[in-house]
Amino acid sequence: MGCFAFFVTLLLAVSSYIHPSLAQSSTPTVYTDPDTGIIFDTWIVPATGSGASGVTTYGGLKFGMALPEDGLTTDATEFIGYLQCASNSSIATGWCGISLGGPMTNSLLLMAWPYDGEILTAFLWATGYDTPVQYTGDATLTQISSTVNSTHFTLLFHCQGCLAWDQDGATGSNPTSDSAVVLGWSQAIAAPSNPQCPASVTMAQHEAQSIFGAVLDSNAANPSYSEWAALATNTVTGACGGATATPTTTVTTTGTVTTTSTTATATVSGVPVPTATYDYIIVGGGAGGIPLADKLSEAGKSVLLIEKGPPSSGRWGGTLKPDWLDGTNLTRFDVPGLCNQIWVDSAGIACTDTDQMAGCVLGGGTAVNAGLWWKPNPIDWDYNFPTGWKSTDMSAAAGRVFSRIPGTDHPSMDGTLYLQQGFNVLASGLKAGGWAEITANSVPDQKNHTYAHTPYMFSNGERGGPMATYLVSAHARSNFKLWTDTTVKRVIRTGGHITGVEVEPQAAGGYAGVVNVTPISGRVILSAGTFGSAKLLLRSGIGPADQLAVVKGSSDGPTMISNSSWITLPVGYNLEDHTNTDTVISHPDVVFYDFYEAWDNPNATDESLYMDKRSGILTQAAPNIGPMFWDEISGADGIVRQLQWTARVEGSLGVENGKSMTMSQYLGRGATSRGRMTITNSLNTVVSTLPYLNDKNDVLAVIQGIKNLQDALKNVANLTWEFPDADTSVEDYVNNMLVSYTNRRSNHWIGANKMGTDDGRSGGSAVVDTNTKVYGTDNLFVVDASIFPGHVTTNPSSYIVTVAERAYERISALATATPGAKFAQCDGATWTGSFQCADGLTCTMKDVYYSQCL
Ligand SMILES: *[C@@H]1O[C@H](CO)[C@@H](O)[C@H](O)[C@H]1NC(C)=O
Ligand SMILES: *[C@@H]1O[C@H](CO)[C@@H](O)[C@H](O)[C@H]1NC(C)=O
Ligand SMILES: *[C@@H]1O[C@H](CO)[C@@H](O)[C@H](O)[C@H]1NC(C)=O
Ligand SMILES: *[C@@H]1O[C@H](CO)[C@@H](O)[C@H](O)[C@H]1NC(C)=O
Ligand SMILES: *[C@@H]1O[C@H](CO)[C@@H](O)[C@H](O)[C@H]1NC(C)=O
Ligand SMILES: *[C@@H]1O[C@H](CO)[C@@H](O)[C@H](O)[C@H]1NC(C)=O
Ligand SMILES: *[C@@H]1O[C@H](CO)[C@@H](O)[C@H](O)[C@H]1NC(C)=O
Repeated sequence: MGCFAFFVTLLLAVSSYIHPSLAQSSTPTVYTDPDTGIIFDTWIVPATGSGASGVTTYGGLKFGMALPEDGLTTDATEFIGYLQCASNSSIATGWCGISLGGPMTNSLLLMAWPYDGEILTAFLWATGYDTPVQYTGDATLTQISSTVNSTHFTLLFHCQGCLAWDQDGATGSNPTSDSAVVLGWSQAIAAPSNPQCPASVTMAQHEAQSIFGAVLDSNAANPSYSEWAALATNTVTGACGGATATPTTTVTTTGTVTTTSTTATATVSGVPVPTATYDYIIVGGGAGGIPLADKLSEAGKSVLLIEKGPPSSGRWGGTLKPDWLDGTNLTRFDVPGLCNQIWVDSAGIACTDTDQMAGCVLGGGTAVNAGLWWKPNPIDWDYNFPTGWKSTDMSAAAGRVFSRIPGTDHPSMDGTLYLQQGFNVLASGLKAGGWAEITANSVPDQKNHTYAHTPYMFSNGERGGPMATYLVSAHARSNFKLWTDTTVKRVIRTGGHITGVEVEPQAAGGYAGVVNVTPISGRVILSAGTFGSAKLLLRSGIGPADQLAVVKGSSDGPTMISNSSWITLPVGYNLEDHTNTDTVISHPDVVFYDFYEAWDNPNATDESLYMDKRSGILTQAAPNIGPMFWDEISGADGIVRQLQWTARVEGSLGVENGKSMTMSQYLGRGATSRGRMTITNSLNTVVSTLPYLNDKNDVLAVIQGIKNLQDALKNVANLTWEFPDADTSVEDYVNNMLVSYTNRRSNHWIGANKMGTDDGRSGGSAVVDTNTKVYGTDNLFVVDASIFPGHVTTNPSSYIVTVAERAYERISALATATPGAKFAQCDGATWTGSFQCADGLTCTMKDVYYSQCL
């Protein structure tokens, strides 16, 4: 969300075109090594001074491959590699990396760095956007030659087991028979730690990275391959001091959970769970969990809110901040202009158990996003949501949300909007093109050919949002408790009745043990996010059979609930995200502001304006977002598809910052493409089926939307279309753009635990009913974006809070549970009543449709 959406495309996603005409880096340059005669297809990342747009490097980077003779027809698992990276010290400065699958997550990563005249390498693996761990599968690298001089290092190597991988059951490959492979690269200027020993090397986050489609031409495969591979004789191991590599402590603290890593994990012994029980245990302190905790505690219920991550905002004890905020009550999470920092340093903040970017800190997405805050478009409820959740049902809930968090499109306390040149360029064009300027939150239903200034949840020049409102009032009550740094592993249940949750410490201070809900009447609400809540259901024996089998085969297996109590539901299906398609323009009037620089070394004027008056550019979310604009496209299938465009003052796709703007198109309501989330043997979630552009009319809407925008902006003097450029048709641009989550996601993941009336136990698509209760249970609820049946117009944070307000109404209206008397039904394939039996009775199965208390 917000910053997420922007910086994934900025830092992780660019120049990602398979089509040769669209980006130089895709087209191979044939290179013959003069010493060995090895012929490579190589791809070149250009060198520029700044590196700042994320797709260029300091000093350049070149990667090449030579494949086995049949490598273009039969998928190879090995290759001969060429890697040349910049480094300005022969001792140890910097490193570079190649993702052999494209994305950073769930792909084999090869890292290389110069050390003491040699080049050392390591195979690594990342399950999330945090420090990678050592790869545990079978991959070997044998060197053919290496050279290190004062500016570059160059390695020729034989890489075996490198194009298909298996990290504890998380498998993948990069097929070489498709005439192109998708690759990623990264470059860091700072030297790694423990550079002498590859088995314990660690590193800070890289400065630049990208993903690209690398076209393989006929030169890539060669009959001499075996001969060349035989030149690889040098195994360079570094110096690990003889002893087993001592794993260094990294920011990845994993409590007592066993991770996939061969490096030892810091083991935190948890605080034993106290004996108190709670009317409600809410898992996840984000946009869903915080409002619910407040509403339920206000109603007099005892509430425990459990957050996996650490505190974020200074208000709750967060500490992460740049030096210039020392001595204030603010952290990086509180200052809107610093939200970008997540893309420079996400360690300890991004979840490590999902291959997507998600905030594992108090506040969740609302702690790390750009704070965009939209009054829900009524049609979003009416189109996608079931009875009870239509716009008329939601309006009171939305009203309460916006009375507590009104939001503002003038976040600076002095009322001024700063650096509006980019806004003005595009707005003038849209206006001339017949689009209407609106105040978005005054007319939330006007989302066709309209544009607006960006509304944020910010207040008083700070982030604000749920953490500054709902959590403050909840926290003031004695019947509310907040635990942070604590992971919920699973719910504990007897049949369909939940008695508590099992917790583990995520970091020091976290709890360990089982915490129970109030007997008979207590309830558990999962608000752990689209991936987090779905994962919790799977670990609790609730989900599709194939996924529960994976959990059974994992480290959870021995203590997992018996398969006779598994509840079959389509958890993980119906996954959706806004499909992102980036476009770039430039115009001489645009003025860029360096929000990254503001972290280390803020402009003194801007700093004091912020510190003294909560005013200035730093009250606006990085990177100067706006205008926001909307379009609706009528499809040949009769469906109207919603587009939201987010413009920001920054280059991408290789266009330098300065005079450029990126306009990201989100395809939302009406999109029919859906994907799937699954779980790996190491209990990490992955997006295994992409939810992007699987449907022809979804693709056509994306194309038409760009054409409509080009048409609207056609009379803006001196505006240059960089992507797509004047020589590229919109059809070619869209059809040739790589569809990978790395470049197409918006990180507005929804839908994995769909709400609906068609009970998933009986072949329906729904995981939760219209009270947000999980089918097949009587006191387990899910309230977060995972229950959205389909996508909405805008960034979803305010919708999630609205859903939480509505869920409060529904959940609190449910009758208090009563245990079944003798002979009462207590289970069954379509049973929706109580799953409890009175004391002394046991729920006894007659057949799959009927169990009774005996
Ligand atoms: C190495 O390059 C970086 C990035 O250009 C620069 O900041 C640094 O000063 C250089 N170091 C040396 C020793 O030249
Ligand atoms: C170092 O090696 C690179 C790559 O081979 C080459 O382009 C560069 O000119 C070399 N620099 C020096 C100072 O020899
Ligand atoms: C910081 O303190 C100011 C002044 O008391 C207050 O208005 C603001 O809400 C606080 N912000 C945080 C994040 O604690
Ligand atoms: C959106 O607005 C355009 C321009 O006014 C119009 O042509 C189009 O029919 C509208 N789309 C819908 C779905 O109403
Ligand atoms: C359930 O588990 C038992 C052993 O734990 C096994 O024998 C049986 O095949 C499993 N049943 C199913 C449907 O997987
Ligand atoms: C800081 O920003 C102000 C405008 O806000 C500008 O006038 C000034 O030159 C900048 N100072 C520096 C050192 O860049
Ligand atoms: C367009 O650029 C030309 C040449 O730089 C300049 O003279 C002209 O004023 C610009 N027009 C606008 C509307 O910016």
